[in-house]
Amino acid sequence: MKHPFSSYRKLFPILDHTIQLSSCSQSALSLPVRRAIDEYLEVWLKRGADWGYWMEQVALARAEFARMIHAQPDDIAVLGSVSDAASSIASALHFEADRREIVTTTLDFPSICHVWLAQAPRGAQMRFVQAEAGSTDTTERIAGALDAQTALVSVSHACFYDGQRVDIAATGREARRHGAIQFVDAYQSAGAITIDVEAQAVDILAAGAQKYLLGIPGIAFLYVRPTLARRLTPTVTGWFGRVDPFAFDPAGLDFAAGAARFNTGTPPMMCANVARASMALLNEIGIPAIEDYLGQLSAVALEEAVRLGLVVASPADAAAKGANTAIRVPDAARIEARMLEAGYVVSARNDVIRIAPHFYNTAEDVTGALRALAGLIR
Ligand SMILES: Cc1ncc(COP(=O)(O)O)c(C=O)c1O
Repeated sequence: MKHPFSSYRKLFPILDHTIQLSSCSQSALSLPVRRAIDEYLEVWLKRGADWGYWMEQVALARAEFARMIHAQPDDIAVLGSVSDAASSIASALHFEADRREIVTTTLDFPSICHVWLAQAPRGAQMRFVQAEAGSTDTTERIAGALDAQTALVSVSHACFYDGQRVDIAATGREARRHGAIQFVDAYQSAGAITIDVEAQAVDILAAGAQKYLLGIPGIAFLYVRPTLARRLTPTVTGWFGRVDPFAFDPAGLDFAAGAARFNTGTPPMMCANVARASMALLNEIGIPAIEDYLGQLSAVALEEAVRLGLVVASPADAAAKGANTAIRVPDAARIEARMLEAGYVVSARNDVIRIAPHFYNTAEDVTGALRALAGLIR
């Protein structure tokens, strides 16, 4: 299979000696990202402190994320993690007697479920839709669980465990039909799967930089549809949520227009340097082309796993999953360590090893990892 992005491989020096296939956890370090960190350190070293430069880097990161999801930079807040983003949103919700349910699935990332569960003292009631590893009907199950009681539906665009995809346009439409808000956790899709917040009827979407966005933890982006942002007043806040963060008025609590009202304290500036560089690379290549290629790698992974007799936890259809192919293994943590010794960075979760390539990986990277894994299991 031809690798359409082979010229980019040299930007990822780790690939000279180790095959990194762990984008569901941490993608490979690229030279543009390393330069962005160096630049941040250089500015610090030479100029001491440069708020203008720092704010510019945050603005550039927001603009790259906005471009990637077909939004405007003003629709994006910058926070420290996806959990923080969910907490900020939760703090702005009211759970009235006739509309108090938060709907999510049993396969959503636990941290986000915990944020919603923590709203119980404020009147929220959780409704967990049962989702099975490898299944392809989670979208219908979520849609079927929404009704006039639903305040918020929280959906993983791609699942952290088995990579299964949810059709967020379908769940978004259903949410709107019932007057509910849809929150999309795009941490496992941003950078690998096309997102169009307009076309997909997304109200709120959050993603961090560490996984398919090719960056590091410490920064997350929160999209809030402008007409919705205007109606929401967070009770988790800070000076960067103000109309003018530099007004320094301790007694004046105004909320910035749009998503900026969900900002809290000083944004993670060094992480913003990283994220603007890593997302610029992804946007240059284009997410649709990356998604198409990762779909081909998924098909290769599924075919090879079946040929090797491995037990696949992910959906059997490449179109129903993101880049991650999860293989059931005994003692996943030990196998992850053994795979590293064999030259492959993969990611253990509970009872699976996740093989999660990005655009810089080849079909041979994927089949080689699966063969090494099969050898270790035997
Ligand atoms: C789908 C998904 N959502 C949320 C998180 C947690 O994000 P954070 O640590 O930024 O809160 C993760 C982390 O792996 C994840 O995979």
